[in-house]
Parts: sequence; structure tokens; C-alpha cells
Amino acid sequence: MTDEQWSRVHDRYRAAARRVAAGEGTGLLTDAKEAAELGPALYHDVDGVPARAVEASLGCGNPLAVVDIRPGDVVLDLGSGGGLDVLLSAKRAGPAGRAIGIDMTDEMLQLAREHAANAGVSNVEFRKGRIEDVPLPEASVDVVISNCVIALSPDKAAVFGEIARVLKPGGRVGIADVVVEEGAVASPCDEDCLAGAVTEARYAELLELAGLGDVSVTPSAGMEGGRRAVIVRARKPVAVRIVPMETRHAESVLRIYQDGLDTGDASFQTEAPSWDAWDEAHLAEHRLVAEDVDGRVVGWVAVTRVSSRPVYAGVVEHSVYVAADARGRGVGPALLRALVASTEAAGVWMIQSGIFPENKASLVAHERAGFRVLGTRERIGRHGDRWRDVVFIERRSAVAGLD
Ligand SMILES: C[S@@+](CC[C@H](N)C(=O)[O-])C[C@H]1O[C@@H](n2cnc3c(N)ncnc32)[C@H](O)[C@@H]1O
Repeated sequence: MTDEQWSRVHDRYRAAARRVAAGEGTGLLTDAKEAAELGPALYHDVDGVPARAVEASLGCGNPLAVVDIRPGDVVLDLGSGGGLDVLLSAKRAGPAGRAIGIDMTDEMLQLAREHAANAGVSNVEFRKGRIEDVPLPEASVDVVISNCVIALSPDKAAVFGEIARVLKPGGRVGIADVVVEEGAVASPCDEDCLAGAVTEARYAELLELAGLGDVSVTPSAGMEGGRRAVIVRARKPVAVRIVPMETRHAESVLRIYQDGLDTGDASFQTEAPSWDAWDEAHLAEHRLVAEDVDGRVVGWVAVTRVSSRPVYAGVVEHSVYVAADARGRGVGPALLRALVASTEAAGVWMIQSGIFPENKASLVAHERAGFRVLGTRERIGRHGDRWRDVVFIERRSAVAGLD
């Protein structure tokens, strides 16, 4: 791909922006099926956003449905077009956060700025730039989103490199995009400029090569011509060191445990035990803590034996807890990876546990670490004044316990 293709993409979206400004819609989603499934049709909760901003949408998914945006977050939208996703992100990030849109097309930037002014939103900013060379400093963004843009880029490795650069450690990625099916012939750029779309597998590989972790590329809808809309999630690995737990960590371990119990969604237990009781209950092996760059303990993982019968010698039940201010930054997944490595090296073939169904973040983290859901035991126990269900999960090792 060449500069000529960049300029074709640019001309196509400049023309679309001019049409929106003239009140004619984008003129791009003309096919009835596309109009019913893409762009504005993907958005249902657009309160407070000008109708023109919604009409200008050229998305192939809704990145805001893919990634969590929290108050105070700095959100970056790559290829922000008419600005809809930026305005919606700014609402979620609240006055303490902000949303920044990057686009290379002046007419789109102008349109987006008008939409922001009409919405009366002040925590947004639109900057001119290419997504292959983002005009933002390193580690300055909590969340990167993008909607139907990266497929257009001739240099995806550069885009993913930029995402990894501007994200803070633990930062999140939520993208809606288009991939091609294996063996499909992409259409030339004079049609829709998706000539550079890659397969799902290649997309994931390029994200991983850029140093991003927890990558998933999941089909969301079939499209014409061997294409698929996908949702993409990833995370910049957090800078933690996983080290063996020592007695000096006891206070932090119990404090993080109590923080977790206080959420009401971690365990039936409500009070952390004394260190002696905790120590007694857990195996001496496979106790690990995560320390941040300042040496502060931000999470721990440990296991108990499920039975004293020799047949269950390779089966353990684990607990993983992350400090309240370090959640959602990849600490849990880092601890789970380390636990798997430690237990497998010792010949443990099964790690199991139970999770309250309300603890969705934990269920997702475990699924990504290779755990599977066995089923839900309904109303298995009383937690305070209510009966609760528990989802049972397990991870069968593919390397230990095979003989
Ligand atoms: C398909 S539209 C999507 C716009 C917006 N994300 C949405 O959902 O409506 C593609 C947008 O990306 C911009 N764009 C395409 N390639 C780009 C690049 N390499 N760098 C910066 N912007 C780009 C275009 O100007 C256009 O506004």
C-alpha cells in the first residue's frame, strides 16, 4: 500500500464529511442491509448527542459496548470521523476524564468539532493526525477505541505499535473493525479501500507482536465479499513482578483479601482470617504475589488442597485477589498465568474454583486463562440474608498429568 491509497481513503471520507455537513447523510451506507446493520443502526443510547453526529456514523460495530470506560479515563479514538464515539466516551469518562479523537481528514475534524460544540461538551478534543503516527505522548491514555478504521490502514503494525506506546500500563483496547476471511480476495481501494484488511488470525498476531496482551478478535457479523465485522479486545500488560509470597507480605495479603470480601462478590466469607489461619489453610507451594514498580503488593494467588486422597494429588482449588485500586489493569491475568506455570511445573493437572455469577470480570479473566465453566450450582449457600449461585470452573492442564 502506498500514499496513493492513503489519499484515496482521505478523499472518500472528505466527500462523506462534506455530504453530512450539507445535510445529505454520509452517502456511504447505501445498501439496505448495510444501512440496517452498520453506522447509526448500531447505537441505541445516544441521549444528549446531536442527531447529525449519529447520522455521520460510519462504524461497523460499537466500541463502547466492547470496552469499559470509567470516570476519569483518558480515551483515544483512532479515526474519529464525525465524533460520535468520542462524544459518548466523554460522557462516560465524566468531567474528571476526557476523550480525544484523531483523524487525518480536515473536513471530518471540522464536523466532529461542530458536533461537540452543539452537544455542549467540553472534555473532548479533536486532533489532526495519522493513526500510524499518533500525536500523543507515551503512556498518556487509559483506553484506545476505534471504529472501522484500522482495516483501512496500509500499515497496521505501525498502528498497533502506536496503541501500545500511548497506552498506560494496564490500559484497555476496544475496537470494531473488518477482517477478511481466509482466501477471500479483498476489493480494490477505488471501491471501499478495504484492500488492506487482514484475517482474524493475522489481526491478533499483529496486536501481540506490538506487545499487547489478552488479545481477542471475535466475529460480530458476516458481511458481503468474504468480510467479517469483528470486535477486538486487548490490554497493555501492566508492569508487575510476580514473586513468591513471604511472611513479610502477610499484612498486604490480608488487606487485599478483606478489600475483595468487602465487594460482596468474591466469597461467602465476610472476614479475612488471621495470618496463622490463612497460612494453615493454604499450601506452602504456589503462593504468589504481584508487586508494582514501587514494590507495593497489588494482588496475590494461592491454592488449597481439595482432598487428602492420593488420587486428587494433582488437583487444587485456587483464590486470586487484586487490590481495589489495581483492578482492571491485568494484574489478575498475570497472577493466573504465573499460577498455571507454577502448578504445571509441579505436576498439578487441575485447578478449580467457584465464582459468583455476578463477578463477571473474574469469569472473563479465568476464561482467558484457559478455565472452562462446568455449570452453575443454584442457591448453593447463604451469603448474609440471600441465597447465592456459584459458577464452577476448572482448568485442565494440557501438559501435566497426561501419562
Ligand atoms: C469508516 S470512517 C469511521 C469514522 C468513525 N470511526 C465512525 O465510526 O464513524 C474512517 C475514518 O477514519 C479516518 N482515517 C482513515 N484512515 C486514517 C489514517 N490512516 N489516519 C487517520 N485517520 C484515518 C477517515 O478520515 C475517516 O474519518
